[in-house]
Amino acid sequence: MMTDLNNLLRSRVPGRSMPREFYVDLEVFEEDLRRVFHKNWLFAGHSCEIPEPGDYFLLSVGAEELIVLRDKEGAVRAHFNVCRHRGSRIVTEERGRSRSLVCPYHQWVYALDGGLTNARLMGEGFDAGEYRLRPATVRELAGLVFVCLSPDESTQDFDAVFEAVEPQLRPHGLERAKVAARDSYEVRANWKVLVENNRECYHCRVSHPEFCMSNYDLGLPGDSRSDEGYESALEHEYERWRFLGLSPEEVSFPNGSSHRVSRLPLKEGFLTEASTATSSRRLWANSPTRTWAACA
Ligand code: FES
Repeated sequence: MMTDLNNLLRSRVPGRSMPREFYVDLEVFEEDLRRVFHKNWLFAGHSCEIPEPGDYFLLSVGAEELIVLRDKEGAVRAHFNVCRHRGSRIVTEERGRSRSLVCPYHQWVYALDGGLTNARLMGEGFDAGEYRLRPATVRELAGLVFVCLSPDESTQDFDAVFEAVEPQLRPHGLERAKVAARDSYEVRANWKVLVENNRECYHCRVSHPEFCMSNYDLGLPGDSRSDEGYESALEHEYERWRFLGLSPEEVSFPNGSSHRVSRLPLKEGFLTEASTATSSRRLWANSPTRTWAACA
């Protein structure tokens, strides 16, 4: 497989879509999971989804599943949802609150910090300390929760991401947000199609008319076009953002890394991206802007 994959990679033409196999081949997908999703920092959810000790939600990454929770001390943790006894799934509800984690198979009990606190009838010589839940690494970034399944092998310098995104996001107070609604849908396509779609707006004019109403069709790195309206809006907004104490600094894939953060102006008259151009709610940080961060 490795040879095939290397041949496939060599056959890729820069600037074009990748060969078909990268989108449909199951073995390539498994390599994607191993090399990308198991080794990089992934957005898991919002801090405000688990405000109280014992609050948790599940996160699936391929065949792996994490329990992301807030422990007794208020720290966010992530444990693999696999019992250390016989490998049963421990938590089965998508989200909830619990004082401890009890395996439904033989009722081993784990504390929120992952320590095994009760294992019936295991006899003398059994050392519960050897059977903690396997942890994943967690970092909170201004109200966002990120996890890494294999931190020792991580290919992403998360400190650099943190330093770039944190000052731009912190003023918006995301940790004080509340989940008003959830929507989840499956796309019948390989994940790379979604990433590629996100990285171009060639399709926006017809597919996202309301987005085009409120946003300039400019502002992506490498875009050589210019627009007087956009340039003057940007200049005006930079001044206003600085006055409001918001950092407008654009960080765009520094040193070949895979993260970008940018604050972009909305078109004149738009306070939000809603087609009504406004909102009956108070705006985050009173700022009609689109803050955009990505880790690709
Ligand atoms: S598999 Fe969990 S207690 Fe046995």
